[in-house]
Amino acid sequence: MNRPPERRLSRGTAEGFTLRRANPADVPFIMATERLDGYETLVGRWEADTHAAAFADPAYRYFIGEFAGRPVGFALIRDWASPAKVTCVKRLAVVEPGQGHGSLFLRRAIDAMFEETDTHRLWIGAFPENLRARRAYVAAGFAEEGIARGSAFFGEVFRDEMILSMLRPEWQARRARDGL
Ligand SMILES: CC(C)(COP(=O)(O)OP(=O)(O)OC[C@H]1O[C@@H](n2cnc3c(N)ncnc32)[C@H](O)[C@@H]1OP(=O)(O)O)[C@@H](O)C(=O)NCCC(=O)NCCS
Repeated sequence: MNRPPERRLSRGTAEGFTLRRANPADVPFIMATERLDGYETLVGRWEADTHAAAFADPAYRYFIGEFAGRPVGFALIRDWASPAKVTCVKRLAVVEPGQGHGSLFLRRAIDAMFEETDTHRLWIGAFPENLRARRAYVAAGFAEEGIARGSAFFGEVFRDEMILSMLRPEWQARRARDGL
């Protein structure tokens, strides 16, 4: 899975891609993306008031990925700059899956998190059957750790999660390999 960056980005070229911090005006896009057909079993959904509360909470940070100025996905980070130095990618979704946007977006968001905070450990959970998400996360440099049983109360049932993580030294090594 440790492929050179050119191949990783082959389906979603980095040219024209930008990552920016989201603002409350992005909430309609974020909510629409959470609610795309087929995403109901994959990703959580919040109402507008919950997103508004998260925007006002410094422990949360939202990012928007854009191609040529058009939003293509969002990421919601929890425990941003936490004193424990452990941060979670709570939610991630793109509008056109399978085009390479998710891996690219995640790589940029990971860079922002490690550059702008002193986080040591970044982690993300995926439902084990969500192989597309798991592959995208591994492509972005996460390592699979194992299954946390019943760790997500989702759709009124407790679901297992595959936990993936990246530690700061691994991020630094990846940046060095990429010549950055
Ligand atoms: C998860 C998500 C953000 C990943 O972004 P993406 O743009 O689709 O991912 P990419 O195109 O960068 O990479 C997907 C990888 O999965 C592979 N893949 C695509 N469809 C797949 C499928 N049905 N089964 C298994 N693997 C699949 C691709 O080949 C690629 O792997 P590779 O890089 O090793 O070739 C996106 O799919 C998404 O928003 N999904 C719906 C919501 C969701 O699941 N969110 C995550 C919750 S944990």
